[in-house]
Amino acid sequence: MAQPRLFQDALQEARQEVATGLEMALATHQGMIAEAMSYAVQGGKALRGFFVLETARLHDLSPQQARPIAASIECLHAYSLVHDDLPCMDDDDMRRGQPTVHRKWDEATAVLAGDALQTLAFELVATSGLSASAIVDLTRTLAQASGVAGMVGGQAKDIAAETADVPLTLDQIIDLQAGKTGALITWSTCAGARMCGEDPRHLQAYGDALGLAFQIWDDVLDVEGCATTMGKAVGKDADRGKATFVSLLGMDEAKRRASELVQQACDSLSVYGATADCLRDAARFVISRSN
Ligand code: IPE
Ligand code: IPE
Ligand code: MG
Ligand code: MG
Ligand code: MG
Repeated sequence: MAQPRLFQDALQEARQEVATGLEMALATHQGMIAEAMSYAVQGGKALRGFFVLETARLHDLSPQQARPIAASIECLHAYSLVHDDLPCMDDDDMRRGQPTVHRKWDEATAVLAGDALQTLAFELVATSGLSASAIVDLTRTLAQASGVAGMVGGQAKDIAAETADVPLTLDQIIDLQAGKTGALITWSTCAGARMCGEDPRHLQAYGDALGLAFQIWDDVLDVEGCATTMGKAVGKDADRGKATFVSLLGMDEAKRRASELVQQACDSLSVYGATADCLRDAARFVISRSN
């Protein structure tokens, strides 16, 4: 009988696939920006890359076929973090246990490396070798998930909330976080279906629930986590008056909602049966992780 696929092994494989994809993409580029790009992509959990590879596997696609798409979303995510850490946004000095890009180099380098990671993400999709219709679908949805209706829009609401006169309501926080964090996560969970032209409906339900749980846990860790384990500063949200699930609901209720969402995420995979167990383990990991 085949051995069950262990989530931690699959996550490790995802980190390797993403690193290989990136090495191939950056091989012909030299200089400070390429160096900063490669620095920015390293050292993360590669959870979004894992979702691409694992949902591709569910749809009978090989890791080699999915690799450029996994590398693509990790580039887009790394760009969002490089810009998120800038002094004009969260003003952070540490990321993934290392100095942030603008601290290691300078702000101009961080802005440009972020810009170039974003365009590289689209180049990776365009040159992935998938069918033309899959490339168009992945490109359109990645642009939507990253832009004003997705990550950028959520980031803008997050920054605006720091100085708002009245605290956000729960619905406003859900909306903010669905953009800021959820959109890229859901894109990565839907990628396996999109790569072969299939309906991503169930993977979308999984990603939507899990994405929200993921951001709730990021907020929990900002309060309860250890800066060394996390490789980034903690306690920043309260310092900056950020609107988070924890600030609105309190710790216990935030955690209860996160586990409810994880259960919902697992249930939405029922059509895939036991072949999706590794994705269910990933959902449970999201609210048990310490970094
Ligand atoms: C952190 O994301 C930033 C958010 C979107 C909340 P991750 O926790 O996935 O960061 P890395 O990629 O592992 O560093
Ligand atoms: C960042 O959210 C989300 C994006 C980069 C899109 P946070 O600001 O909460 O992430 P951390 O806590 O700095 O990783
Ligand atoms: Mg932020
Ligand atoms: Mg931040
Ligand atoms: Mg945070």
